Amino acid sequence: MAERIRFGILGCGVIGPHHAQAIAGLPDDAVLVAVADRELDRAEKLAQQYGATAYDALNELLRHSELDAVCICTPSGEHAACAVAALDAGKHVVIEKPVDVTLTAIDRLRAARRSQAQKVAVISQHRFDTATRIVRDAVEQGRFGRLTVGTAQVRWWRSQSYYDSGAWRGTWEYDGGGALMNQSIHTIDLLQWIMGPVAEVSAYTGLLAHERIEVEDTAVAVLRFANGALGVIEGTTAAYPGLTARLEVHGSQGSAIIDNDELLYFHSASVPEEGSAYGVSGGGNQVADVLSQYATAPAGPAAGADPASLSMAHRDQFRDFVEAIREDREPLVNIEEGRKPVAIILAIYESARNGRPVAIQ
Ligand SMILES: NC(=O)c1ccc[n+]([C@@H]2O[C@H](COP(=O)([O-])OP(=O)(O)OC[C@H]3O[C@@H](n4cnc5c(N)ncnc54)[C@H](O)[C@@H]3O)[C@@H](O)[C@H]2O)c1
Repeated sequence: MAERIRFGILGCGVIGPHHAQAIAGLPDDAVLVAVADRELDRAEKLAQQYGATAYDALNELLRHSELDAVCICTPSGEHAACAVAALDAGKHVVIEKPVDVTLTAIDRLRAARRSQAQKVAVISQHRFDTATRIVRDAVEQGRFGRLTVGTAQVRWWRSQSYYDSGAWRGTWEYDGGGALMNQSIHTIDLLQWIMGPVAEVSAYTGLLAHERIEVEDTAVAVLRFANGALGVIEGTTAAYPGLTARLEVHGSQGSAIIDNDELLYFHSASVPEEGSAYGVSGGGNQVADVLSQYATAPAGPAAGADPASLSMAHRDQFRDFVEAIREDREPLVNIEEGRKPVAIILAIYESARNGRPVAIQ
């Protein structure tokens, strides 16, 4: 198929415009033709910027005559319902994270695909960062030996005015959770993608620095991975002034640290090293070497904690989606992959509620 994939965007709030920018970043492969928001002025503003047509509802958008794919950028608890409507209309779909906020809704979405030819991608843009690829490849190649510990630490800040800025924010029904389901999900997804499936979690959550929200602003969990490795998740929107999102992967022959999407530390013993009994003591940083082996520098966009600065972080995932349609293969992050971090987060919430370890479904 030589033609460009014609996209529509539903939801023109914070993230919708980033989808528009990502699509514009693939001028030979994709084009934005229509946008919709129930606040019509938001749709009109975005439409004007990209020469698209504006609508105020999903059913109007779906009637647009030349549309191949729809991006779902509405509040999280509406994702599956909107995506099912787009699938029923015969479109391919890109869904913002989280794919939805309950496993029932996600499974309903999975059942709604008419055929394997209809492609569904769930946004997890940092899977495409160079830093992430380097660390995942190293694990796949056994360069870190036996995996022992993996940690995800998201120490961000969201003000009370952030939570007050939309009625859906901080609600169970539409946000599906707080610091984990909305913010830390990116790093949790990378943790499980690199370390492998999580078998069981034990957790505490708290609402410590905000009010008028139903969900947690702070959570800690300990994990047991299916491969026997252990892990920790710390996620908060209550760490003023907002620090970094950090992922650490450790094994018997190597370690890596990604901080705010950049590869900070990498060490792999290509042959078991005869160092001191206490290892190389934090030394031997091989980041420069390993980066030079990957053609595309820099090691990931420094998108950091501010969603308004996301810029082109989504573009590589859109490229994968367009290729998936053309090559009739699954996108890298399909519904099944998008479901995994949600299942972990829901198990953490259940453990925090019940005070017991919870196995992942
Ligand atoms: N990948 C990322 O880094 C990232 C960053 C920010 C947000 N997100 C995700 O994007 C989604 C939206 O977040 P946001 O911050 O852009 O929210 P937002 O409130 O800023 O924007 C949502 C927009 O959708 C519109 N809308 C809601 N329901 C609608 C409907 N049924 N029909 C038409 N329009 C509708 C609203 O009017 C609003 O303009 C969330 O699921 C969030 O988790 C992802």
